Amino acid sequence: MKNYLKTVIAYSKKVSTTGAMFETSALVVKEMSRNVSPDQAQTIVELGAGHGNITEVILERMNANSKLFAFELHTDFCTELSNRISDKRLTLINDSAGNLMQHLQKHQINEVDIIISALPLVLFPPELVAAIFQQVEQSLKPNGLFIQVSYSLVMKKQLKKAFSNVKHKMVLLNMPPAFVFSCQKNV
Ligand SMILES: C[S@@+](CC[C@H](N)C(=O)[O-])C[C@H]1O[C@@H](n2cnc3c(N)ncnc32)[C@H](O)[C@@H]1O
Repeated sequence: MKNYLKTVIAYSKKVSTTGAMFETSALVVKEMSRNVSPDQAQTIVELGAGHGNITEVILERMNANSKLFAFELHTDFCTELSNRISDKRLTLINDSAGNLMQHLQKHQINEVDIIISALPLVLFPPELVAAIFQQVEQSLKPNGLFIQVSYSLVMKKQLKKAFSNVKHKMVLLNMPPAFVFSCQKNV
């Protein structure tokens, strides 16, 4: 409860960049992390890690030989996350998702299996959304997946422009209902 309230207060104070006062619900996180495999080594990227609720679930599910690179813009959120989670498979990157490729190159990552995002894209300038989508698409493996949570269908058109085979699943039991988009690299 203490951590929950701490997160609500922290997200509320920066609502213009967090886009939310509450963490993504467990039900939605489960749907978002469905393709994280316990059985095979994967390279996974998380965008907009916040205090690490999705990070934690990905780490719980992923294989011992997988790697997770989590991006978070705010330094204080990164501090909170690294105080809560200590895992050798996790690399926390305190920078914008707009610099995705630069960091992957620095870590000598050529291809990524899954990119899971809770970024509040509807609040971003169109140029930043386009730059993120381009880098996400470029960094994915041929059958790689980009998973994005959203609370409206506003981004659907742009996702369809940037990726192949864009599907969405509506998580009705969430309040408000959430859309989990699943997008494949262009082939
Ligand atoms: C809706 S919150 C999601 C937090 C948490 N992952 C969750 O699902 O509950 C969005 C997060 O994205 C971060 N963020 C916003 N713009 C970003 C950017 N350009 N690059 C990386 N992180 C960003 C915010 O600071 C915030 O922590």
